Amino acid sequence: MIQTKVFNNKNEVAKAFADFIVQLTKHRTKVHIALSGGSTPKVLFDLLASNYRTQINWKVIHFWWGDERCVPPDSSDSNYNMTHQHLLQHIDISESQVHRVLGEADPQQEAQRYGDHMHRELSKIHEVPVFDLIILGMGSDGHTASIFPHQMDLLREENICAVATHPESGQQRITITGHVINQARHIAFLVTGNDKTEKVEIIINKKPGYHKYPAAHVAPITGKLTWYLDHEAAAGLET
Ligand code: 6PG
Repeated sequence: MIQTKVFNNKNEVAKAFADFIVQLTKHRTKVHIALSGGSTPKVLFDLLASNYRTQINWKVIHFWWGDERCVPPDSSDSNYNMTHQHLLQHIDISESQVHRVLGEADPQQEAQRYGDHMHRELSKIHEVPVFDLIILGMGSDGHTASIFPHQMDLLREENICAVATHPESGQQRITITGHVINQARHIAFLVTGNDKTEKVEIIINKKPGYHKYPAAHVAPITGKLTWYLDHEAAAGLET
């Protein structure tokens, strides 16, 4: 099932999504959430760490990353570092609940380790780990997680995690692969800003060539997909 929710601005997107997380984690004993990186989640993380800090039972949440740059955890490029600064350091959570990708490790070895760790810790369907929630961003080139248009094979890659390469910088990344994304119970795209308008329209309206973009291949097998958009990102949808 696919839903599209449009809000006035990125702050309202963050509030709506924070409310969703409150509901998702209420009455649960363990919730596995894979986070996205980049800049969009910062607004959400800041909100969760402030207005929502006491509304969520952080003790039930296990944080994972859908992708991570192959850099040390204190690098300004690290998705973990961004999450620590904007969220993790502000909430009552134990180290055992934070499953960091070792960006400082050998990429191939880390892709294997992180995938094995996921396989051990999460429930599985047909041997594929099942996340309760995967939060995804989308680049202006239509990439998601670290699956870029020049590496579409990572959508069908058999392994749980893989080593990806940024098309411009050549930076190596660890990413979950397409079948892990699509096995999740809930998938949420958080996409804001007018630099995403074109691809949002092409992908959601399945316009000619939409299949060229990795984000267009996010289609949960049994779970739910919700696009959380602001008016700018959704401008092409609103007729
Ligand atoms: C990353 C992300 C990536 C991100 C998109 C959107 O490591 O960069 O996981 O997939 O979500 O590039 O990034 P912005 O939110 O910065 O536009």
